[in-house]
Amino acid sequence: MTNTPAYRVAPGADIAEDAVIGAGSAIWHLAQIREGAVLGADCIVGRGAYIGSGVEMGAGCKVQNHALVYEPARLAEGVFVGPAVVFTNDHFPRAVNPDLSLKSASDWEPVGVTCEQGASIGARAVCVAPVTIGAWAMVAAGATVVKDVPPHALVAGVPARRLAWVGRAGEKLVPASDGTDAWVCPVTGEWYIPDESTGGLQLASGMVAQGPEVAAFEEEFGAALVAGRECVAVNSGTSGQHLGMLALGLGPGDEVIVPSFTFAATANSVAVSGATPVFVDVDPETFTLDPAAVEAAITERTVGIQPVHLYGHPAPMDELLRIADAHGLWIFEDAAQAHGATWQGAPVGSFGRGAMFSLYPTKNMTSGEGGMVATDGPELARQVRLLRNQGMEKQYANEVAGFNNRMTDIHAAIGRVQLGKLPAWTARRQELAAHFDAHLEGVVTPVVREGAVHVYHQYTVRIEGASAAERDAFATALREEHAVGCGVYYPTPVHRLDTFRVDLDLPVTEMLAREVLSIPVHPSVSDEARDRIVAAVNAVAKAGA
Ligand SMILES: Cc1ncc(COP(=O)(O)O)c(C=O)c1O
Repeated sequence: MTNTPAYRVAPGADIAEDAVIGAGSAIWHLAQIREGAVLGADCIVGRGAYIGSGVEMGAGCKVQNHALVYEPARLAEGVFVGPAVVFTNDHFPRAVNPDLSLKSASDWEPVGVTCEQGASIGARAVCVAPVTIGAWAMVAAGATVVKDVPPHALVAGVPARRLAWVGRAGEKLVPASDGTDAWVCPVTGEWYIPDESTGGLQLASGMVAQGPEVAAFEEEFGAALVAGRECVAVNSGTSGQHLGMLALGLGPGDEVIVPSFTFAATANSVAVSGATPVFVDVDPETFTLDPAAVEAAITERTVGIQPVHLYGHPAPMDELLRIADAHGLWIFEDAAQAHGATWQGAPVGSFGRGAMFSLYPTKNMTSGEGGMVATDGPELARQVRLLRNQGMEKQYANEVAGFNNRMTDIHAAIGRVQLGKLPAWTARRQELAAHFDAHLEGVVTPVVREGAVHVYHQYTVRIEGASAAERDAFATALREEHAVGCGVYYPTPVHRLDTFRVDLDLPVTEMLAREVLSIPVHPSVSDEARDRIVAAVNAVAKAGA
């Protein structure tokens, strides 16, 4: 009984008895496989090709017609060796010694060509051993390789030089659009990053710098929170707001209308751009910009408005947009505290030319630290992208003076997980708020305007008629007598901070700075804690009444 080999041998092929050939392989006419050679499964050896003694080939290698693979070559899996390729194997090839005696098989040192996974060697190329062709590298037809080829390099010529980088699909890679050192395959979308240990590239699976996680986070954030607007991730809300101002062309001589009852970052973004924040008063019920006050503050220098969706309540965007349109102004929304809030059915961050969301840990969602800029289209998005990365789209081709305000892939990965949890967290905040609305006594509870969805970054009550000292005493009693944490956002109107010191009369802002107090509304507040908070606020309010 004869064993039928599990591979195919065409007539005239010469296979040494002790050669090992993997299942599914095909050895074509006149090919020669020498003693001790080991071929993996599914290899193809073409007509007239030569595989030297002891050569090792991984699975799926393809050696084309008349290629000469001299020992001790080693081919990892999936290596392509084109027609008439030659792998040499002698450092100092001579037929004879200096005395003209013939060299024997044993008085020279064989050196080999090593091909790593997926490497590809074009027709008639010569690889002069010892040399390593790195993983997925490509040697062009006719090249002569005399030194190691790094992974993913495309080399050509005599001697071979690197012309480009190639991906696993064999396509030339293009520089990543974020200006980092990364490269992208236009066919598969795979990202590659420099590998210092080899001088070549490696597939970017564990990228730390801005990469695929950031791109995915931007996409998902845009789809989930700002009606599909193009988003750009940055390293903080503050830098997002600053870059937004610069991308809109803000500069010295310009004025931007902002509320004074907000966190200082809103006005700072205008000031650090060289422009002047013009502070106006807010609505006493929603704590957001008062449209009449905005209109009254417009001068010939006004270029834009920055409404703040404070505590998670949307500003009255329809009225503000009407004013902006009538006066040719842009709107840039400060949505730092309002992820998921809506105004008349549309999400905050989708009204203005642009918007900023903070992703700081205390916000409704976080990326550890970070910010997101939503834009009204590719033009503004590109400007923000340039400014976030030293003005570069292509590496070292700086177009504008910019910053390093990039988000890392690690932060983006956190943000993506948080984004998925945001709806449930927002629902819990709203549930807690509804309970507070129904059960708090002796304090003014927050108003939700018709057409608004409030996401309660803060649940902020007013101690009506209180002085700042009385409000602070209320807070102290909550903390010390009832162990209920609380905070005052914000005790000093921004226009009166040392940084601005503007002499203005903003009565609602002053009143709010005296009276507001925020109680815990984060989603981890349990029903038991919620009831304790209600009881504590009601007790302190009653005691002070
Ligand atoms: C209203 C407002 N604007 C801007 C910012 C700045 O955001 P970030 O802290 O992410 O820089 C914050 C965050 O505290 C904020 O509350």
